Amino acid sequence: MMILGIETSCDECSVAVVDDGRNIISNIVASQIELHRPYKGVVPELASRKHTEWIIPVYREALAAAGVTLREVDGIAATNRPGLAGALLVGHSFAKSLAYASGKPFVGVDHIRAHLYAAHLERDIDYPYIGLLVSGGHTILCRVSSFDDVEVLGTTIDDACGEAFDKVAKHYGMGYPGGLAVDTLAARGNPEAFHFPNPSLHKGDHRYDVSYSGLKTAVINQLEQFRGTAGTGSLEDIAASFQKAAIDLLLSRLFRVVEDTGLKRIVAGGGVAANSLLRSTLADYKDVEVIFPSLKLCTDNGAMIAGIGYHYLTRGIQSPFSETVSARVQGFRKTYP
Ligand code: KG4
Ligand code: ZN
Repeated sequence: MMILGIETSCDECSVAVVDDGRNIISNIVASQIELHRPYKGVVPELASRKHTEWIIPVYREALAAAGVTLREVDGIAATNRPGLAGALLVGHSFAKSLAYASGKPFVGVDHIRAHLYAAHLERDIDYPYIGLLVSGGHTILCRVSSFDDVEVLGTTIDDACGEAFDKVAKHYGMGYPGGLAVDTLAARGNPEAFHFPNPSLHKGDHRYDVSYSGLKTAVINQLEQFRGTAGTGSLEDIAASFQKAAIDLLLSRLFRVVEDTGLKRIVAGGGVAANSLLRSTLADYKDVEVIFPSLKLCTDNGAMIAGIGYHYLTRGIQSPFSETVSARVQGFRKTYP
């Protein structure tokens, strides 16, 4: 069963063709990095306008690369939430129009569940497992019992992990996009050069929750002062020290979840899952099986949308044409074991 997957939730315009939820026949990702570079961040209005320009050419390219026509496609899936509303609307509306015109089944899928599904495109993975979803918009630790059954255990109470990388990079002019820039600089820096305080959580926050706003502010403000007076601290050292603090924080919560749930498998997803320190640290974690998608499938792509869309459509689950998009995270149980 061949599914067309469409992803436009942020700054990647991506269309893919995936067979049986597993075999990627084509996966075209048109990145808007150059468009947003002058602003050192994604400008929502520009993102959605560019998606309207690109969506049909990217769709055509995905079909051509797969060597198929729309007639041979069995169903259409598109991201419906969460993300930038205007950007989401482009891919979602385009997908509904295609489905309406062709009579193919359509399903809107959740971007977070799709990120967690990305690793399933490359290997067989049994449920349940601990999902580690770390991206520019989200930081979620969860128990994943099926492609659809995701129970949130911990989240960020403020900034997402990737957002902290992006903001630190922007403040120090490390480069754009920020996560990769920090990662690259950090490789040449000393992670012990600076020590940043551990964030303190407040009453009502859970021991699996993380907070990145305090770390980001500490890196930005305290270091400015420190550099001002002492005049030391290379960008490489700042990047390495910040990256270590950010990843250590994430891992401390992840290890708590491993200990409490007893689950022996972790599956990562989202842009920050491309981080080299996160990958190398978890590669040495012997007690638990840790699975990362390949780098290309960590960041936003249509293949993960087509892949998870297959599972809904083969179960007869479709979305009505009246479905719309949502900018917000929705539809997850949040419980603490
Ligand atoms: O999953 P994604 O493409 O989009 C969202 O759904 O947000 O993730 C993008 C995020 C950005 O914040 C980017 O800075 C971060 O992933 N990122 C990284 C790395 N590569 C991308 N963060 C840390 N290290 C990286 N190597
Ligand atoms: Zn994403």
